[in-house]
Amino acid sequence: MSRIKSLLKIQDLTPEDLSFIFKSATDFKKNRKSPSRFPLKGESWGLIFSKSSTRTRVSFEVAVRELGGSPMFLSAQDIQLGRGEPIKDTARVLGRMIHGAIIRTYAQQDVIDFASFSQIPTVNALTDEEHPCQILTDIFTFEEKRGAIKGKTVAFIGDAACNVPRSWVFAAELLGFKLHLAAPEGYQSTVGNRQTQFFTSPQEAARGAHLLYTDVWVSMGMESEAATREKAFQGYQLNHELLQVAAPDALVMHCLPAYRGKEITEKLLEERSQEIFDQAENRLHVQKGVLDWLVSP
Ligand code: CP
Ligand code: NVA
Repeated sequence: MSRIKSLLKIQDLTPEDLSFIFKSATDFKKNRKSPSRFPLKGESWGLIFSKSSTRTRVSFEVAVRELGGSPMFLSAQDIQLGRGEPIKDTARVLGRMIHGAIIRTYAQQDVIDFASFSQIPTVNALTDEEHPCQILTDIFTFEEKRGAIKGKTVAFIGDAACNVPRSWVFAAELLGFKLHLAAPEGYQSTVGNRQTQFFTSPQEAARGAHLLYTDVWVSMGMESEAATREKAFQGYQLNHELLQVAAPDALVMHCLPAYRGKEITEKLLEERSQEIFDQAENRLHVQKGVLDWLVSP
């Protein structure tokens, strides 16, 4: 019997797994109108979300459906989990009923526990520590537009301690690209590796970069720190001044949702809306690649 696969963090993937996911995503994207394979045929997949979501929720719901399965959205508020039922009990119940789970929550340990107690494929759809599905899509989008990311430089400007840049750190190691993280004191990443360089100056981080990337200053769950963070992150913004020091053909990406005038200017976001919304659309195609990989032998 083949092992049960899960995607809980970028480090769960090998370069071969990534190639499988990207190839599958490319095929499903190309053949969306006339798909020839339905790898989730007859399966029910649960989406268990404790935090808000537009892109991740919709892309996974549509992906499960278009791969032949039935998605079931379970807001944590509406199930007993929200009233204190332990994750390990929820997992053991759902594991006997559904075929896979896609979970958005706070603690990374909760997705780990869910996967281990449910014994069904489990996807991390964002925790406080990682957002692997987002970074897979970002790399897929970069490679679609510019070719291999290996050897290139990605500059992340903003809250380098949150989930999205943390997943970028692990992806840089996996794929061999350089990662520049620019953040104010106190908001730097607590993880790093030989591919990662830390900066406090956004200009220095952006110099020569092939991709300028940002995320919100106030992640979900951090709302009580909003005022302090907005002060701390002043100047940590994607704008035309930063673009000037980046590589001439630099891409601009944002995982979205975007707060204009904060982590990115309205002008830059609208000028680069094609690539930013291509990136958002690719969430759908890459989720299909992820699901296909999870159920493949
Ligand atoms: N980028 C992202 O994960 O968006 P949602 O929060 O809308 O899912
Ligand atoms: N860092 C953000 C990502 C949103 C997709 C958050 O956790 O809210």
